[in-house]
Amino acid sequence: MSADIRIPIYDPRPEVEALWDELHEAIDRVLRSGRFILGPEVEAFEQEVAEYLGARYAVGVNSGTDALVIALRALGIGPGDEVITTPFTFFATAEAISMVGAEPVFVDIDPATYNLDPSLIPQAITPRTKAILPVHLYGHAADMDPILEMAQEHGLKVIEDVAQAFGGEYKGRKLGSLGDAGAFSFFPTKNLGGFGDGGLIATNAPQVAEMARMLRAHGARKKYHNEMLGYNSRLDALQAAMLRVKLRHIDEWNERRRAVAARYNEALASVEGLAPPTEADYAYHVYHQYTVRVKHGRRDALRQHLAEAGIGTMVYYPVPVHRLPVYDWPEGSLPQAEAAAEEVVALPMGAWLKEQALSAILERLN
Ligand SMILES: Cc1ncc(COP(=O)(O)O)c(C=O)c1O
Repeated sequence: MSADIRIPIYDPRPEVEALWDELHEAIDRVLRSGRFILGPEVEAFEQEVAEYLGARYAVGVNSGTDALVIALRALGIGPGDEVITTPFTFFATAEAISMVGAEPVFVDIDPATYNLDPSLIPQAITPRTKAILPVHLYGHAADMDPILEMAQEHGLKVIEDVAQAFGGEYKGRKLGSLGDAGAFSFFPTKNLGGFGDGGLIATNAPQVAEMARMLRAHGARKKYHNEMLGYNSRLDALQAAMLRVKLRHIDEWNERRRAVAARYNEALASVEGLAPPTEADYAYHVYHQYTVRVKHGRRDALRQHLAEAGIGTMVYYPVPVHRLPVYDWPEGSLPQAEAAAEEVVALPMGAWLKEQALSAILERLN
């Protein structure tokens, strides 16, 4: 790829520029407070996120990966258990399942949404299945109703991986508030991105929230009275204070992402061999990524063509998780995920993508 990328796939800087004063006020407040880990700033952020999501509790932790690990453990999932999940996701989804000692069982995706295909779940359920872990990939909801119904029927827990979908919705309900727990990431490139690592667990169950609070602080409810093995996974006050600033703008920014997506969709509808993303009627898509599908084996040629014009692209994900050496499932076993990995490419996306840049991308694509 060309080294001279003028339009990156994502640029965090305009957002920082726009919020410069508000962010600095938040930083000053924390520096003056002398409370740098958890404390009132994190509590306020947790309360604001819980309200935003319509969930009863929110527990800040130090990454999206930890949010998954802690949510799984707080729900009692561990060695000997199987967790049904998607192979078409970032590695951390499956890694978290493995790190708690359970086993990921991969089920193929619906090619229209790139998310777990609920119709394939029943044949993957065994007596060891304890949970289903759907991912709302690229900002688009997984089809939650059938997943929640199957979970209810078989006594399974549901953990939503909402790392890529802050503010996204399923039938008018915020993602992360539908299952037993939702795991969020505030990795800087996410729709609600921090200034370093950060994450959060949302839940409606008081015992899950309590367990998550213990686990993030070395398994202790009360300092130095540790009750179980936990983690050092607390959210920093600086991250929380700055995320509180951004949270006030998230709906507007997601709407702007949707407007960018609408422009792309309209311009790309007539481009032969290229399939724009779709939005299911149950979803409010927040376009963490704008991912198109390129047919006839021409994905990499298209990337090269864009790179030569200084336009950045990325492939999320070139190897589906079940085919990575850690898991190494046989080729051909999950055909939809494998085909998607060969054909998808993400184009520049963000609330701050300028009209001029968008026009340049569309011109080059056409
Ligand atoms: C789908 C998904 N799950 C989990 C994670 C892990 O989040 P983090 O990088 O904050 O640990 C990410 C993001 O990186 C992700 O995209």
